[in-house]
Amino acid sequence: MKQQLAVVTGASGGIGLDIARQLAARGYDLFLVARNAQDLEKACKELSAGHGIASQYLTADLSEPQGLASLEQKLKEMEPAVLINNAGFGTAGTFCDSDAITNAGMMQLNMVTLVQLCHAVLPGMRKRGKGYILNISSLAAFQPAPGLALYGASKSFVLPFSEALNHELKGSGVSVTASCPGPVDTGFHRRAGTENSRLVRMGAQSSAAVAKEALQALFKRKPVIIHGRLNRLLVFSTRFVPRSWLAVVAARFMQE
Ligand SMILES: NC(=O)c1ccc[n+]([C@@H]2O[C@H](COP(=O)([O-])OP(=O)(O)OC[C@H]3O[C@@H](n4cnc5c(N)ncnc54)[C@H](OP(=O)(O)O)[C@@H]3O)[C@@H](O)[C@H]2O)c1
Repeated sequence: MKQQLAVVTGASGGIGLDIARQLAARGYDLFLVARNAQDLEKACKELSAGHGIASQYLTADLSEPQGLASLEQKLKEMEPAVLINNAGFGTAGTFCDSDAITNAGMMQLNMVTLVQLCHAVLPGMRKRGKGYILNISSLAAFQPAPGLALYGASKSFVLPFSEALNHELKGSGVSVTASCPGPVDTGFHRRAGTENSRLVRMGAQSSAAVAKEALQALFKRKPVIIHGRLNRLLVFSTRFVPRSWLAVVAARFMQE
């Protein structure tokens, strides 16, 4: 049973909840983590009743070292087969005017927590010779992101970190996949203050579609998935644009 356990961070809504739904449909038991206990409890009830799986949740603020420590402890006891590092957030605006405490929480959640959770599960997965880790990065990982500078940089960290880990783990039965969505229709943009940006208004994918593609890539052990044809084209085109132009173009996409 333990081999069929999947841990999903940021599972109270958005992409994380859809990933949890699709893992439940694949027969995985679930351990869901976020701050909103009510939403987590509702998700556990829905998924256990709908799919006959076992589900539990942990209420933790993963941008705080104590929240991270409580999950790390659980992970060592649970021996999950799948870890989905999905919890993350961004805030729009110039870095100069941003709040230092919010920035520290963002770096902790988007980077430090993700690294530590990989570190907590990997020795067990490698010993058992089987495991899957999905790290949610972003389209923002491929170029500078003026207006979301720190968020973009945090997602740029996730991408090569995941690719390098995946390479280190070759032949071990454990793989790491980086998922890079463009705009997705979740509460993320309202919270970030980016819902009126040109990029989001151009069209957002559904969280269910992103979750489906991400899990397909995960179980095929693909190192990277860029979601959506247009986003793949945008990433491809960055190869031909001088580095100095990338920030200019990205800033235009962020304009309202
Ligand atoms: N939406 C997009 O356009 C987009 C594009 C590219 C990448 N992404 C990435 O996709 C991931 C999921 O985003 P989403 O679009 O699904 O956003 P969302 O709807 O805002 O969901 C974020 C999830 O993370 C949880 N979370 C946030 N802060 C947390 C904290 N401090 N501790 C624990 N859990 C926390 C939230 O739950 P609680 O509030 O209950 O804690 C929620 O379950 C993020 O890493 C995001 O950066 C999103």
